[in-house]
This record gives sequence, structure tokens and C-alpha cells, in this order.
Amino acid sequence: MLDEVALVAAVVAAVREDRLWQRHMEIATIGATGRGGVNRQALTPEDAEARRWVLEWAAGRGFETSVDAIGNLFVRRAGSDPTALPVVSGSHLDSQPTGGNFDGVFGVLAALEVLDAVNDAGIATQRPLDAVVWCNEEGGRFQPTTMGSAVFAGVLPLETALATRDRDGIAVEQALADTLKTAPVAKRHEFRSPMAAYLEAHIEQGPVLEATKRTIGVVTGIQGLRWFQIEVSGEEAHAGSTPRRNRKDAVVAAVDMVKALQDLMFDEADTVRFTVGRFEVAPNSPNTVPGHVLFTIDFRHPDQGVLTRLGDQIEGVCQAAAKGCGVRVVETMTAPPTGFDPAVLGLIRDAAQRQALPHIDIMSGATHDAKFMAGHCPSGMIFVPCERGISHNEAEMASSADLAAGARVLTAALLSLAEG
Ligand code: GLV
Ligand code: MN
Ligand code: MN
Repeated sequence: MLDEVALVAAVVAAVREDRLWQRHMEIATIGATGRGGVNRQALTPEDAEARRWVLEWAAGRGFETSVDAIGNLFVRRAGSDPTALPVVSGSHLDSQPTGGNFDGVFGVLAALEVLDAVNDAGIATQRPLDAVVWCNEEGGRFQPTTMGSAVFAGVLPLETALATRDRDGIAVEQALADTLKTAPVAKRHEFRSPMAAYLEAHIEQGPVLEATKRTIGVVTGIQGLRWFQIEVSGEEAHAGSTPRRNRKDAVVAAVDMVKALQDLMFDEADTVRFTVGRFEVAPNSPNTVPGHVLFTIDFRHPDQGVLTRLGDQIEGVCQAAAKGCGVRVVETMTAPPTGFDPAVLGLIRDAAQRQALPHIDIMSGATHDAKFMAGHCPSGMIFVPCERGISHNEAEMASSADLAAGARVLTAALLSLAEG
């Protein structure tokens, strides 16, 4: 009988860098834009195709699959104790409209690689090992971000999520039904089903690991975030005949709002993250004074006090810049800063140390499904570097060796949790 250290080493040795990289390249063909990246937004035919790939992979190994009512997909390698809670790992396969080949995909493929390595090593774990594909992490098509894990965790009502529409008026409910037709799963997974622990591997999406020459980021937490949608209602008018004083120009008002918000959010330390990522003008005609603007705000900070103080001023700042237009401010998501479980972080640190991988504690600037799992069970995250920290960009790149290193640390940490 192997002792635990030798057993973990045997499974870690079964992690295959070539297989992991090859799968990244396979998934990269689904929704490929031809410019090096992907457009595989949530619940599109491309997203469904990527899910089908996972189902085929699971069927090939005889693993059980299940799906919950918001479309989160689970793959289970059974444990030896049928009563034991699962240890879960995963991320997402959906992308930004101009997304890269690693954001989310790495966390899913690393989890599948762990299941493969455990299988190849012929090991029985006490707890089941689950790989999860969270639905609509990106939030580009259907807002908000991390929708699937929010509903799973009970933070967002299912009905609200299903009724959410994209810009073409298609509801999540319809898009999910279409997706499940392409990638059907018979077994139902229950929301809030208990887990022994959750671990997510991801590319860093920032510059710290590369700059400090570390292979592994031990993610201590995720900064908080607030998302808003601002609707500005003016009055459509003829661009040639309407004097300025008679106009209610929604673009002029909205631009002033964005400028005033930039001033509100300015900080010397450059810690505040403030983004207006969507700006929609109606009727969007060169010779009509715009009657309507919709823009979005993504505001993030590690300190809840700052999130509250600055975020609560957004509506007032917009009202003050309205110039006679109507303003409606809706907060579409709030997530406080998240701290991960110290014991889980200790296992990640130990694994990196044993494998002689340079590591560093790091706070996540991006958000992840792990933030909702942290309120559900002991959770943690592992980062690997990506080139120049670039992400949400088709040029996103990570090295095969770093991805494999992250998968090996994930393997060791998950195995400890699966026996614990
Ligand atoms: C996830 O992609 C995020 O917005 O941080
Ligand atoms: Mn991601
Ligand atoms: Mn992303």
C-alpha cells in the first residue's frame, strides 16, 4: 500500500502536459474567430458544442454527468465512499465576444486532467471528484457575470436569471433549452448540493506572476465588484433644424456622466477599477439627435468600504449631469470582496513547495465562480501566468509548461482534499 505522499506523487506524475495542451487547442477551434481567439459566448451554438465535447469526453471514461436548472454541468468520478461529499473543481467554457483560448478553459481542462490522471494511475479516492463547467461566467451576452454559480449558490433567483434577455431579446430560458438540445444531460443536479471543497485553476489575467517570475499564484481572495446599468432618456430631434437649447441629447448627457464618474473614481494609488464597457445609442442615426443611451459600469475594489462609498455616489453623479434628460440607474450585481479558506490555501502552498514551483500569494482582480463557492464550502484558487497579463483579448497566451504546472498543483491539492 502506497503512503499518501507516494500516492499523490504517482497521480501528479500521471498529469500529461501534451494532452492538456492538445485539448486547449481543440477547444480553441470551437468559435474560433480567425484572429487567434474565440467568440464562444454563453449559451450560443458554440458554447453548446464545447459542452458536447465535455460530455463525449466523460462518456469515453464512463463518468456520470448531471446538469442543474441554470445549466451548470457536472462530471463525476465516483469515490470509494458513496456517502462522502465530493471535492469539486472547474471553471467556464464561455468567452468574451473577443475572448482568448485560456480564460476559463484552463480551469475546466485542468479539472478534467485531474480526473484523467487519477484514472490513469488506477487510484480510488474516498470522495467523489467532480469537474464542473459553470454556465455564463463571462456575462457579456447575458448579464450579470458569474450567473450560473450565483444561481447555484442561491445568490441570484433562478427565475430572474432565466428571464434575462440578450440584446436580440432572446431569454436565457430559450438559449439554455437550445443548448441542452445540442448537449443533452439526463441527470438533474440540485442547487446548493453540498461539497467538501471547491478549487478553481485559472490564468492570472494580470501582470504579477510574470513580473515576479512565479509559476503559481496562491489566490487569497477576489476583489469586490458592483455592476450598474444606466439608461439616459432624452428626446429624438432633427439634427439639422433643432437648436442646441431645444435639445435633450442623451449622448451629450451620458458623456458628461462618464466624465464625472471618471473624476469620482480617480485614485492616486490606481487601485479602483472603473469601466464603461458598453455604450449603446438609439436610434443610432447620424442625423437624429439621440433620444436614448444605455451604458454599463463595472466597478471593483478590494475594500468593501470603498465599494460602498464610491458606488453609492454613482446615481447622484449621473443625476447631476443629466441636462434635462431622464436617468435610471439599476445595480445588476453586487459581490463583496471574497477571502478563500486558509486551510485550502495551505494545501496549495504545500503542493507548490513539494513540486519546487516558485509561488506567491496573490489577490484576484478578475472575478470568478469561486467567489460564490467560498460561501458554500471551503474554497481556493490557483493562478498560472499569462503573457503580459493580457486577457479578455484574442491575443491571450499561456505556456504549456505553466498550464501543466498549475494542473499538477491542482491534482495534489484535490487529492489531499479527496482523502480528508
Ligand atoms: C470575469 O471575466 C470578470 O469580469 O472578471
Ligand atoms: Mn474566467
Ligand atoms: Mn473572463
